[in-house]
Amino acid sequence: MSKKISILVGSLRKESFNRKIANELIRLAPKSLTMQIIEIGDLPLYNEDLEGADTPAPWSVFRDQVRDSDGVLFATPEYNRSISGVLKNAIDVGSRPYGKSIWAGKAGAVISVSPGSLGAFGANHALRQSMVFLDVPIMQQPEAYINYAGTLFDGNGKLNAKKEQFLTEYINAYAQWVDRLSN
Ligand code: FNR
Repeated sequence: MSKKISILVGSLRKESFNRKIANELIRLAPKSLTMQIIEIGDLPLYNEDLEGADTPAPWSVFRDQVRDSDGVLFATPEYNRSISGVLKNAIDVGSRPYGKSIWAGKAGAVISVSPGSLGAFGANHALRQSMVFLDVPIMQQPEAYINYAGTLFDGNGKLNAKKEQFLTEYINAYAQWVDRLSN
């Protein structure tokens, strides 16, 4: 049976490179994965006072969507050598109420995308740090630091062949990781 994967994109920009790469991963994924981007832009900022009777509806919807999935794949930009506020907020929302985290045990993967030379390495590893605490086993290899993102697509939005090959290998490795963790 196909495994459900939630994709979280840490950028809200319409032309986000991270979203484009996430969509390429959906296109290239093997049949064993059903992947869907879960929107995180309308999640109110985390505030523990709102838990209980006042829980914002978008928090509950988000928690249910991710809880229902077998794995979670993060496509993260780098903001000031870390992850974006919007992505950290989603992670925090999913981690609470205390003892009811939606994250533990999900088969995880991180891909980071930047127009710069370092491929958002800093954000990629900052995210991994939170995932250790949240008990999300993140695929170790292949690592994916996608640099020079502005050069990856041609004028028609077509991804270059070399990167497509890498992303295919990456998503196939992730499918194996999901299999390993859920059997
Ligand atoms: C950036 N950018 C950036 N890039 C990088 O490689 N390292 C960094 O530390 C930062 N810092 C940073 C901070 C803020 C507040 C912004 C808005 C941007 C540039 C960033 O990589 C670029 O805007 C990407 O295009 C963001 O990813 P999306 O939106 O294309 O997915």
